[in-house]
Parts: sequence; C-alpha cells; structure tokens
Amino acid sequence: MKTVFINCSPKKRFCASAYFLFLQRLFTGGKKVTEKLRTQADHDRVLAQLRDAQAVVFGVPLYVDGIPSHVLRFLEKMEIFCRENGLRLSVYCVANNGFIEGRQNEPLMQCFEHFCRRADLTWGGGVGIGGGVMLNVSRILFFVDVALLAVNTVLSVANTGNFFPKDAWISFGQSAALLLYFNLGVLFFIARMGHHIRKGTDAGKRYTRILIPSFVFILFADIFFIIISLFEGGIFRGWLAKKEYGKS
Ligand SMILES: Cc1cc2nc3c(=O)[nH]c(=O)nc-3n(C[C@H](O)[C@H](O)[C@H](O)COP(=O)(O)O)c2cc1C
Repeated sequence: MKTVFINCSPKKRFCASAYFLFLQRLFTGGKKVTEKLRTQADHDRVLAQLRDAQAVVFGVPLYVDGIPSHVLRFLEKMEIFCRENGLRLSVYCVANNGFIEGRQNEPLMQCFEHFCRRADLTWGGGVGIGGGVMLNVSRILFFVDVALLAVNTVLSVANTGNFFPKDAWISFGQSAALLLYFNLGVLFFIARMGHHIRKGTDAGKRYTRILIPSFVFILFADIFFIIISLFEGGIFRGWLAKKEYGKS
C-alpha cells in the first residue's frame, strides 16, 4: 500500500504541517512518499505520485477558517486528474491552526469532505490541531534541550571526567516530559488515524490542541508575537506606519 503525504504549507521551512505529517508518517505503514505543495509548479509532480497510491494525507494550515487558496487550485486539478485516471483514493487530512481550539478546523474538514464527494473519492477523516504554531515551537525546543544536554556532558567530561552529569539529565528529562505532555493529544489522535489509514477505514473527524490551559496559551502567544514582530521590523510597525494605498 502506498500513502502520499502532501505538505500544503506555503512556508519553505519550519512549518507546523511538516511536523504533524512527520508524526503521521511514523504511525502509517507501507510505502510512504512525502511531497511539498507550494506553487503551481508542484502540481504535476504531486499528481504523478497519486497514480499508484491508495491513500493521500493532506497536511494543511488553516487560513482564514478555510483551505489556503493555493491548495484549492490544486484540488481543482486533482479532481479532474482522479476522474480521468479512475483513481479511487482514500483522502485524510491533518489540519492545524494558530489559535488554540482545534475545532476551528471544522469548516476546512467539511471542504475536504465535499471535495471527496465531488471527485468521487473516499473521505477517510482528519485530525484538527489547535495551537499548531506553539506545538511546532515545542519540537524545536526539544532539539535545543538535546543540544544543551550534549554541551553539559562535554563540559562535565572536560572538568570532572564524569560522562553522566546527573543534574543535566534530570533537567533534560523534566523538560522532555513537559514537551511530550503538550503533544499528547496530537500523538493520540494521529496514532489513531494512522491505524485507520493502514486499514483503509474511516477515522472520522477528531479535534485536539496543545495541552495547556487557554490563559497560559494567550500569555505565551502574546510574548511570542511581540518577539516575532520585533524581529520583523519593530513592534506596532504595521499599526503606526503611514499607509500608502495603491502601492504594493
Ligand atoms: C494568511 C493566514 C491566515 C490564517 N488564518 C488563521 C485562522 O483563521 N485561524 C487560526 O487559528 N489560524 C490562522 N492562521 C495561522 C496558521 O493556521 C498557523 O500559523 C499554522 O500553524 C500554519 O501552519 P504551517 O506552519 O504549516 O504553515 C493563519 C495564518 C496565515 C498566514
């Protein structure tokens, strides 16, 4: 059985969709192919992969409560392609959004459901994930933790000859456990959908989110976006800048 994973984020790197598709791949058996869908130049390459596939998993970011427009253009082509080639694929979706509630992906899931009906494909269900940006940051933090542990181990060996700095390992374990906890809902529902992809059965629609209370999420999201906006050219830049209409 061949499953094609389509990363639909227009970002070149560090996208949340890549992270969730990576997890979905771990829980899916058979032959696996991952493709990136960013521009029209990708259409033919991705469609060619669908020819001998049994299942396709879309990793999609939620844009304005719906499917990003470049993905809609692809779905229009895919509908024709599947009809012309008599393809009977099962379609699954891992959607993620920036706000905390995964249920905000429901309209996007409905679009995929309607697409399947129209293109005569089998809708296999999906997982909608809230707090996608923050969960994506959590995987980056994990690698930072690993790097810190490596540095601490090297320093410990250099200073005392001890290859097992206990405090560094305890601190790493605590941090890794916390990051794992944030991701538990995602891991559970993605593992569950992997089971259905392997069997070719209907996974239904499931919604989850980063496992932290909403008020903590809002606090960290505010801090995160202030830092990002500083890096992007200064806080309130967009609000206070003089608008010049008609110029791009
Ligand atoms: C143009 C645009 C529209 C967005 N609309 C929404 C939205 O309606 N609701 C939401 O929760 N997040 C929204 N987001 C946030 C993305 O869904 C979020 O950043 C997601 O993690 C991006 O996934 P990616 O890194 O795979 O591209 C929007 C982001 C952009 C750039």
